[in-house]
Amino acid sequence: MTILWDNEPGASERYHFALGDVLLLGSAPLVHRALDDDQHADLVVIGPLVHIDEASMLVESVRASRPEVGFILLRHRLDVTTMGQALRSGFREVIASDDAPALSDAVRRSRDLTAKLAGHHGAVATPQGRIVTVFSAKGGVGKTTLSTNLATHLALSGLRTVLVDLDLSFGDVSISLQLLPTSSVHDAVGMHGHLDSEGLAQLVTHHEPSGLDIIAAPTDPSLADRISAHVVTELLRVAAASYDFVIVDTPPSFTEHVLAACDVSSLLVLIATLDIPAVKNLKLALETLDAIGSPRDSRVIVLNRADVKVGLRPEDVVQAIGAPIAVSVPASNTVPASVNRGVPLVLESPRDPVSVAIREIADTHIRARFGGPVEEPQRRSLFSRRSR
Ligand SMILES: Nc1ncnc2c1ncn2[C@@H]1O[C@H](COP(=O)(O)OP(=O)(O)OP(=O)(O)O)[C@@H](O)[C@H]1O
Ligand SMILES: [Mg+2]
Repeated sequence: MTILWDNEPGASERYHFALGDVLLLGSAPLVHRALDDDQHADLVVIGPLVHIDEASMLVESVRASRPEVGFILLRHRLDVTTMGQALRSGFREVIASDDAPALSDAVRRSRDLTAKLAGHHGAVATPQGRIVTVFSAKGGVGKTTLSTNLATHLALSGLRTVLVDLDLSFGDVSISLQLLPTSSVHDAVGMHGHLDSEGLAQLVTHHEPSGLDIIAAPTDPSLADRISAHVVTELLRVAAASYDFVIVDTPPSFTEHVLAACDVSSLLVLIATLDIPAVKNLKLALETLDAIGSPRDSRVIVLNRADVKVGLRPEDVVQAIGAPIAVSVPASNTVPASVNRGVPLVLESPRDPVSVAIREIADTHIRARFGGPVEEPQRRSLFSRRSR
């Protein structure tokens, strides 16, 4: 969809030749709202009477979270000062308002660029970082254990990593890292529509021993209902622009927040365990993901507590879900012990078989998939300080 911000009557008709059908709006807040409502909007054209400062402010507030949206500025007269300001703010082009062929060309170039930025399943590619969502439709299978340790390992490897706790009512990421956050995902609500990297930094709590950043779930479970899926989408996109990896921990059901995360994720880590309800739920989750068009090649299935002898075998799981298991994580008492100490296992016991399996997920199925060398993590003392 193309949005035209213009206050002149008949503006839609005037530019119809170059823009086709447009949504005509008269103010920046209306444009913000329209962009929030339509995640597939690809172009905003701003008319010649809109003040350059107002137009620039809009572009600056949108470009971090929606880099795929093209902005074109129309002016009655082109001058160097205006062009300079507009391009610095993030406009793709500045065009004379009476130059219809130039506007048509600019629209085509902008759409081409947007298409290049678009992800392979229609979702918009993250500008820099990769979003990895750890999910299972059943509780207690190890989502928080895996997401916390995966994120810690990536951070220890020197990659800028943020762990977002989307278990918005009962999240326990901060407690499992012994952190006392002063902000949470809920604080993104007030910045919705204009969240940028500086705003994001205010939401983050730093885990000094690993270098990991986290964005905690709210401490008040009732706040979850006040966080819309759009806020989650914006938060994850802005995080992806600021970090190498965004790891998302989730609640045990397909909430609107989880669906929003799946939509912008490059990879889903789905957890199975050797019990019939978990396998049934995983099968249903895979079918749901198929139904919403999530590509199969962007899923990794991990079998947690893979060695417990309970009658169900890993091959039974593979047969039931019709998909291979990428990595098996053994059961070990070291896991709850590390949670109780509030120190991720990959940090305190990197040679533990559970840590080795988690590193395999991170290195073989996350880092290698997205390119870049897989290096040994920096050895970081539990009390080291991170230089930023
Ligand atoms: N491989 C493992 N070996 C032993 N215990 C494990 C293992 N993985 C997880 N656990 C333990 O299982 C419990 C549940 O794990 P975790 O909290 O990670 O699950 P979850 O899927 O996040 O649960 P919820 O759905 O409630 O958020 C924890 O006590 C954790 O220590
Ligand atoms: Mg959990």
